[in-house]
Amino acid sequence: MKALEGVKILDMTHVQSGPTCTQLLAWFGADVIKVERPGVGDATRKQLVDVPGADSLYFTMLNHNKRSVTLNTKSDEGKAIFTKLIQHCDVMVENFAPGALDRMGFSWEKIQEINPRMIYASVKGFGPGPYSECKVYENVAQCAGGSASTTGMLGDVPMVTGAQIGDSGTGLHLALGIVTALYQRTHSGKGQRVECAMQDSVLNLCRVKLRDQQRLKAGPLTEYSQYGEGIPFGDATPRAGNDSGGGQPGRILKCKGWETDPNAYTYFITQAAVWEKICDVIGKPEWKTDEDFATPKARLPRLNQIFGAIEDWTMTKTKFEVMEICNPLDIPVGPILSMKEIAEEPSLRDTGTVVEVDHPERGAYLTVGNPIKLSDCPADVKRSPLLGEHTDEILAEIGLNPDEIEAAKSGGAV
Ligand code: COA
Repeated sequence: MKALEGVKILDMTHVQSGPTCTQLLAWFGADVIKVERPGVGDATRKQLVDVPGADSLYFTMLNHNKRSVTLNTKSDEGKAIFTKLIQHCDVMVENFAPGALDRMGFSWEKIQEINPRMIYASVKGFGPGPYSECKVYENVAQCAGGSASTTGMLGDVPMVTGAQIGDSGTGLHLALGIVTALYQRTHSGKGQRVECAMQDSVLNLCRVKLRDQQRLKAGPLTEYSQYGEGIPFGDATPRAGNDSGGGQPGRILKCKGWETDPNAYTYFITQAAVWEKICDVIGKPEWKTDEDFATPKARLPRLNQIFGAIEDWTMTKTKFEVMEICNPLDIPVGPILSMKEIAEEPSLRDTGTVVEVDHPERGAYLTVGNPIKLSDCPADVKRSPLLGEHTDEILAEIGLNPDEIEAAKSGGAV
């Protein structure tokens, strides 16, 4: 039995943030019923198309283990069917632009009236306030949540990150909110509203940068490279390049082959606990006792010199050799892996983190499986549904007879 078996999710999500949330719930065993506009479906089905005529990887990689029903929730007949779906399900998830569900005639009050046990979860770009009516995509959330102003190189433009912290990050937050509300419902018997704003989720993931904002009042941030470089701090948390975000200085350093391979780099952390081992590995044993280098505090103004010496050593090794040498010594390092290397990495296939899935329209493709591993609830990744693939069976499950299903089809409601 799966952890969320028996939980029915009315999935009104589209694009990325909502679908990542409901995909996680589906991997844990929930029955996720994805409602899509007849003939159109989730816009991502036809975005960034690589195989003409087939659902895109954008769609397939965000909608595994779900069932698809088409329904025009703006038609009278569609609204009647939608009402039955609300009665049938435990959780409704949506990430439409603000007000879209109200405009369909399904406000939170109305949903509660139809099903008081319903958990109604939504993603919006912003919480209540001046921007609550705005439409928001990933990079807008990264900018408004504090990530872009603190990412990139000092003196250069703000930078967005490739990790989809606004979309997938908010989806993760929402999934936690939903299972928490489901748990509370076991005591209260009542549903409730779960809201996640993308700005808030990004900020939650950038919490160390708000930490640094407040530390600035006490003086320069000594673990930032700019401190050692004598560059004064302004009044806001600066961009920190590849500096480590914590108390153990770290940087990205070149490895053998960097001249031609854009990913021949390693991340190297000068953890205080292993400083003496680092000195030995890089051929600087004298730094173990030199008072300019022996303590973490003494090292802070000399990070450029220190990482320069470490890089002289890492440039003589491949990123994997650096890992092989440093790991047994407990020196924290990590190779910069390309997506090609990740796609080909056998250990990620073994754990189900990277999975090959077959699809009737596009054949085999790779996807990211469930990153959350439950010992008693393994996640099998099943291909995403075709548009409306499960319309008939879902309508039958909520009590429509074959004539009613035919009528809904001919009337254009599904
Ligand atoms: N039947 C009938 N109409 C449907 C429908 C269905 N099954 N499903 C959706 N629609 C309608 C909606 O009711 C809405 O109509 P309305 O504007 O007349 O009220 C319309 O389709 C489109 O919805 P909308 O959410 O405005 O889509 P969009 O493509 O214009 O905007 C986003 C996309 C992502 C910008 C927007 O949805 C948004 O800001 N969402 C919240 C934040 C978010 O999740 N962003 C990240 C996405 S990865």
